[in-house]
Amino acid sequence: MEYNFDEIIPRKGTGCLKYDKTNEFLGGEDVLPMWIADMDIRIPDFITDALKKRMDHPVIGYFYHTDEFYHSIVRWMQMRHQWNISSKWICFSPGIVAGLSFLIQNFTEKGDKVLIQTPVYPPFYEVVEKNGRELVTNPLYLEGDRFLMNFNDLEEKLKQGPKLMIISNPHNPVGRCWNPDELRQVAELCLKYHCLLISDEIHSDLTMPGFKHTPVAKLSDEIAQNTITCMSPSKTFNLAGLFTSEIIIPNPQLRARFKAFMNDTVHIYGNVFGDVALQAAYSYGAEWLDQLRVYLAGNVQFCKDFLAEKIPQIKTYSHEATYLMWLNFKELGYTHEQLSQKLLQEAKVGFNDGTAFGAAGDNCMRINLACPRATVKEALNRLSAIF
Ligand SMILES: Cc1ncc(COP(=O)(O)O)c(C=O)c1O
Repeated sequence: MEYNFDEIIPRKGTGCLKYDKTNEFLGGEDVLPMWIADMDIRIPDFITDALKKRMDHPVIGYFYHTDEFYHSIVRWMQMRHQWNISSKWICFSPGIVAGLSFLIQNFTEKGDKVLIQTPVYPPFYEVVEKNGRELVTNPLYLEGDRFLMNFNDLEEKLKQGPKLMIISNPHNPVGRCWNPDELRQVAELCLKYHCLLISDEIHSDLTMPGFKHTPVAKLSDEIAQNTITCMSPSKTFNLAGLFTSEIIIPNPQLRARFKAFMNDTVHIYGNVFGDVALQAAYSYGAEWLDQLRVYLAGNVQFCKDFLAEKIPQIKTYSHEATYLMWLNFKELGYTHEQLSQKLLQEAKVGFNDGTAFGAAGDNCMRINLACPRATVKEALNRLSAIF
């Protein structure tokens, strides 16, 4: 079956952060929102049908995560990432950001150092700082149009004794799908310096065609024992509002400790619709996802071609994964503040501000391309009208 990703779906008035809060977050009702990472794309019928079927039952009582919930995750990891996991390794979390915060609370003490690679998804900073832990950063660097990890700097930072490192794999916002060599080096350095590795793989299903995601814990048994992997169908299938994700912990001691923490703080349940949607997504979602990836890659290419032709001063990078693209406006010659004002007040396009991702985000913006191509065109036309 062929899916239609060109459909325009009005979202205003649904309590939707992206469209109903443009005034609050972007400073104007008429700003086209190309920011927060959900998709302006219909969730597939096999998910809505499963949800409706559950709704048909007249009682929504207490529930538990069934065997089928766990098995659907096991099958998806095997089918999409050739990663053989045991259902026993899976812990529920009500969202990944919440999960990262729980992991930090559980595996570090106040004042401990936590290492992240910048620029990166802003909540990585927040979960560390709001929990009273100390941030240590390992900045990525550019070679040509590709961001790379700086392993010398990483080793120096690991010598400072961080208890935990969080990576974004694939990386939000720079769009790298880290390759096995890069991931092995990070994981082995973490092992060498006794630093627990958390791999946030929420974007793992959203690689561009031709790029393959590597779950870092798949690289070796030893690495698996020192790695905690965060996954979810929420980005892939546009289910962010259901707050249902899985944290995969092969190491039995770490898992027992985390499960006890989640149990004691009563974070083990989530909501029944999240479980139903996850199962449907992971059971029937492969074909839809492959068509979506092609469509998103088309949006990425469209955006790159448009900018190269009409506003070549806006630089893009090698884009291997995620529907979020990193744009660099430096060559236009504005200060970051002038740029933000021009984008919001003149172009009336709302991106995620690059500086929220770290100092390297000066003069950069993140655009969300998970929308019908017509919306991408509209955003780019608005840019070309002012630059
Ligand atoms: C790297 C990364 N982790 C986590 C999240 C959010 O996860 P959740 O909505 O499950 O908290 C996002 C959303 O964009 C993300 O990019």
